[in-house]
Amino acid sequence: MNLALRKSDFIQRGRFITFEGGEGSGKTTQSKKLFAKLDEAGIDVMWTREPGGSYGAEEIRSLLVKGESERWAPSTEALLMFAARDDHWRTWIEPALEAGTWVICDRFADSSYAYQGYGKGVSLDLLKALYQNTVGATQPDRTYLFDVPVDVGLARAHMRMSADQAKEDRFEGLGSPFHERVRAGFKSLANAEPARFYMLDATQSIESLEAQVWQDVQCLISAAIAHG
Ligand SMILES: Nc1ncnc2c1ncn2[C@@H]1O[C@H](COP(=O)(O)OP(=O)(O)OP(=O)(O)O)[C@@H](O)[C@H]1O
Ligand SMILES: [Mg+2]
Repeated sequence: MNLALRKSDFIQRGRFITFEGGEGSGKTTQSKKLFAKLDEAGIDVMWTREPGGSYGAEEIRSLLVKGESERWAPSTEALLMFAARDDHWRTWIEPALEAGTWVICDRFADSSYAYQGYGKGVSLDLLKALYQNTVGATQPDRTYLFDVPVDVGLARAHMRMSADQAKEDRFEGLGSPFHERVRAGFKSLANAEPARFYMLDATQSIESLEAQVWQDVQCLISAAIAHG
């Protein structure tokens, strides 16, 4: 009998939930609300974000979200995104999931496909190869896609930005045609994987969206209990 068991052999893997969508669509608002609800329900849960999350990836984040919009070539930007994701995945997300922690991530790889792929023309095959190299075959258990008209999202993001003075506005400055391509790209991704994606009309109230996400997450919790 092989007794070389690891602690994780006895623990059910955590669920991986991602929040996606364009600028100002409500990802941070809703992902933090879900974190609070899961925590209150007694589930071991972690909130994180991309680009960034881990210490190393947060350093790369500032290269990506600050400064001139045209600062990087699209391929350079895609590689920086995946450099950050590689560190975040290996040091932060994967160990947490293994330990049974549920992980909520504010943006993940679908943002790379939508922004660098559909938005800036980087090959989707290249992005998928980078994903395979970094994350492997694992996909989020659920991805909430917040769909909002570009002008509404940009206006919200702009208001929030002036309020917190963070100056993380590199992508906002790219103009409406870019953001329209990103929005359409997200929809194509969702249509291609209907079992993983849950798309929400993000023009609804914060409370209504929160309730819809929570109702769906309760199904994930029930399934986790049933398999536990
Ligand atoms: N459903 C909503 N209706 C109206 N305003 C909202 C809604 N959701 C979020 N907001 C507001 O819009 C602004 C942007 O929201 P939030 O930061 O959650 O968006 P985001 O998707 O994380 O944006 P970014 O892509 O810039 O990170 C905030 O001021 C937030 O309070
Ligand atoms: Mg945000």
